[in-house]
Amino acid sequence: MQSRKEALVRSVLEALGTLIEAPPARAELESWVATPPDPALGDLALPCFKLAPLLRRAPAQIAAELAAALPLPEGFREVRAQGPYLNAFFDAGSFVHEAVERVRHAGPLFGSSDEGQGRKVCIDYSSPNLAKPFHVGHLRSTILGATLARLYEARGYSVFRANHLGDWGVQVGYQILGWQRWGDDGLLAERGIAHLTDLYVRINAAAAEDQEIDAAARRLFQELEAGDPRLLDLWRRFREVTLESLRGSYRRLGATFDSFEGEAFCEREGLSEAVVHRFTDELGLAEESQGALVVPLDDEELPPLILKKSDAASIYATRDLAMAIWRWDEFHFAHNLYVTDQRQALHFRQLFAALARAGFPWAERNLHLPFGLVKIEEGGQVLPMSTRSGKMIRLEELLDRLVAAVRVIVEEETEKRADLDAEEIDAVCEAVGVGAVVFWTQSRSRNSELVFDWDRATDTRGASGPYLQYAHARLCGILRKHDAAVPGPEQAAHLDSAEELALARAMMEFPGCLERATRLGEPALLAEYLLDLASTFSTFYNRHRVLRQEPAITAARVRLVDAIRIVLARGLEILGMAAPDRM
Ligand code: ARG
Repeated sequence: MQSRKEALVRSVLEALGTLIEAPPARAELESWVATPPDPALGDLALPCFKLAPLLRRAPAQIAAELAAALPLPEGFREVRAQGPYLNAFFDAGSFVHEAVERVRHAGPLFGSSDEGQGRKVCIDYSSPNLAKPFHVGHLRSTILGATLARLYEARGYSVFRANHLGDWGVQVGYQILGWQRWGDDGLLAERGIAHLTDLYVRINAAAAEDQEIDAAARRLFQELEAGDPRLLDLWRRFREVTLESLRGSYRRLGATFDSFEGEAFCEREGLSEAVVHRFTDELGLAEESQGALVVPLDDEELPPLILKKSDAASIYATRDLAMAIWRWDEFHFAHNLYVTDQRQALHFRQLFAALARAGFPWAERNLHLPFGLVKIEEGGQVLPMSTRSGKMIRLEELLDRLVAAVRVIVEEETEKRADLDAEEIDAVCEAVGVGAVVFWTQSRSRNSELVFDWDRATDTRGASGPYLQYAHARLCGILRKHDAAVPGPEQAAHLDSAEELALARAMMEFPGCLERATRLGEPALLAEYLLDLASTFSTFYNRHRVLRQEPAITAARVRLVDAIRIVLARGLEILGMAAPDRM
């Protein structure tokens, strides 16, 4: 694409040279060249408006004169004037050929870059809370964060995946109290985190009736902070059970982490205390306010950031300050990103403002990537997500239900062909069921609300994960049927139909799509791109046959199919979805 743009600009400059003495600079001219929204207007176009003052004639006339004087640039079939535009059309055959060869040459690395070489990005995502279940907000954070990590890696960065576990705070006091009242070793061994969740729901329900409970939970947490060994043992046990269950879910979702050290780590390693000391004694930025210790942020028109509460209990914000500083000391990150829901936007603004007030030059490298609310609707009703209400749906349950839902479809399909054994069917169901959730979660732009719609998420003909996975399996199927090795480029004819050109264009947009998705922190761009690619392929496949054509045509189309497969597989991999080669 780039080389074609350059060739076009070279020709335009040559033509301009015959019309005026001082044509605009090459780089400037190049910046005017754009891709028209409608391919009927060419693959590239030069608007001639800005040339008008230089040539002192109407843009349309300039376009016409340029078209007449222009030597046909290499790789183009035609350049013609249309109103004030100079529209340039690629020579489809050579363009398709180039695109296919470029993709096949790069293979799974197609679209990657080394932009981030030698730079580190920390991504703080998922970060659920100790002994509380993982809820759908954490699910969105997990899926988005894991994709962002893969996007940054594709751009050449090295990534530190941080799970800032919420394993310290008054809620641990609640959990301990629940355990003391109703905890059962047998049930814990058997049901793991589900038992802890039950206790948590139960103690919260009791607290709504009895004010004493809150006070007791707070006392327990204070004793824990003071280092009571029995309580610490219990805390360790809760932490292990929580991690154990999380690891299972993360495995299914394809999310990995370099660290599960979060809030407790900051307290227990003395990081929080050091931060309080730094902001108070060293920097003199903190002051007392109603018994609490705060960092005023009036200049930024923000409420003050609380460092220590009036009961001296440690808090979330202090730990985040501490952790940001720890990460900086450890990695000197290029970016430190936080993926949480929008409701924490104020917290992060305060956090970053406090870091800036402390004079850390890296304060602006921190970024909050918020996302909108998540809902699950069933039978026209929105299922509650709050942990305390107890009627929430757990992540494992959600995944299992989708896997069960797609089983019906998958079994029916394979029945017709009977080419998968039971174990393979299980694997496909897991890939498609989990893939449906993973894709659905990323198919909406980050800040929009996300409503899980079971039927649409699993609809193999709709804009869904399963639709893309089927498209991938179909591409693999064509290559399997071809059953000879993919033929070499020397045997391939040039392909130049509109559908093939559209596919080549789509593939060439992949690297730019990855770049934008990374820069904007927006996996939805990639999701949308893949849907387009798959439907562009469908259109092609409805009109053209790949196998058993003239050998040179089959050779070229098999190479094209293989290139599409490479891009689709890579896109799915980045989105965190499995891509079975038969379904
Ligand atoms: N544990 C928090 C929650 O469940 C999210 C933590 C996000 N990360 C952070 N460094 N504050 O809402």
